[in-house]
Amino acid sequence: MSATRDAESLLRLPGAIDPYPAEPSDADLAAQLGLPPEAIVRFDMNTLGGGPLPGVVHALRRYDAAALVEYGDQAYRALRQALAEATGAPGHRIIPGAGADELIRLATTMVVGGGDVVVVPVPTFPMFAVEARLAGATVVEVPRRDPGERQDVADIRRLAEERGARLVWLCSPNNPTADAHEPDEIAAVADGLSAIVVVDAVYQEFAEASAGEPPEGRSLLPLQERLPNLLILRSLAKSHGLAGARVGYLTVPEVLADRFEAARLPLAIGGPSEAVALAALADGDAARQRHRLVVRERERLAAGLSGFGWRVLPSLTNFVLVRPPGAAVAIAEALLRRGLVVRSYAGGALGGWLRITVRAPAENDRLLAALAEPAASA
Ligand SMILES: Cc1ncc(COP(=O)(O)O)c(C=O)c1O
Repeated sequence: MSATRDAESLLRLPGAIDPYPAEPSDADLAAQLGLPPEAIVRFDMNTLGGGPLPGVVHALRRYDAAALVEYGDQAYRALRQALAEATGAPGHRIIPGAGADELIRLATTMVVGGGDVVVVPVPTFPMFAVEARLAGATVVEVPRRDPGERQDVADIRRLAEERGARLVWLCSPNNPTADAHEPDEIAAVADGLSAIVVVDAVYQEFAEASAGEPPEGRSLLPLQERLPNLLILRSLAKSHGLAGARVGYLTVPEVLADRFEAARLPLAIGGPSEAVALAALADGDAARQRHRLVVRERERLAAGLSGFGWRVLPSLTNFVLVRPPGAAVAIAEALLRRGLVVRSYAGGALGGWLRITVRAPAENDRLLAALAEPAASA
């Protein structure tokens, strides 16, 4: 028997694929900076400021390790029921997965393969393009002239038609520009288009809190009822402080429900994650209170940054995209030396900009105080 040579040539796709840019962990950063781990504050991940929701802490303490020995409920009955109650979507049209990320892969692989076209308005969340490329599809970007300029949905529709796209991504509210499409704009892209359109709405809860609207006030379900090619992607990662638990869900139109149900991984969400998700969903008031706090803090942070002469884009999310007058990367590095991690961009459309997650009041104060020191903001 001889050893197989050149195993890489046996892979479906030739050549390397650019992976999602991995961020260093708190422990890595602390070691690199010579700081204690607790000095690190992540303003770069868009996670929920203020720590876990009280119900989540309680549920995790109560979780029985004996349950880990067995597999969980492959149908996710309890989780689907809770998500159905929270969103108004029928349970059989809710496809749970291990975070929105897993469902980006599911939606991509259900729709495209080698040589198909995926339209991605940019700048946006990088996983849409990463997954499209992994599927062997061609990514067609729809750029904005400036991150502060609204994306014209007519451009997206035109390119999708011209290029015969099978899949179109819309991120609303969008990471990193923090703005959102109105339902009629989403309809203008999807209505009558021969492509699946997925709206990533993982920041929806913050948009609702920003506008003083009730929970699900910005639900796209009514739109999905009349657009059978529209998929809606949600997650508990940001809105319910469960980024580490990995719980996302895709809401699909009736005609696609069985197909997506058949294709999803049977048990992507582990038992402890399901338990904390149920607890988070059970205490909707605590989550909404937190969203309102985040919105208030966001306005305070935005006012502080504007006070330093920075350009701050209006935000419907739990982060702000900002442009300091000086060198953004140098500012990010100066903050990093103090343990404050913000997202900077090496170049391209976002060169010169920083993305800053709104965190707990004391942490936001730390950031503003650091920027007030001449050495940090210069
Ligand atoms: C727009 C968007 N979609 C999806 C995700 C990933 O969500 P999850 O943690 O549920 O996989 C993120 C995380 O930053 C995001 O910004």
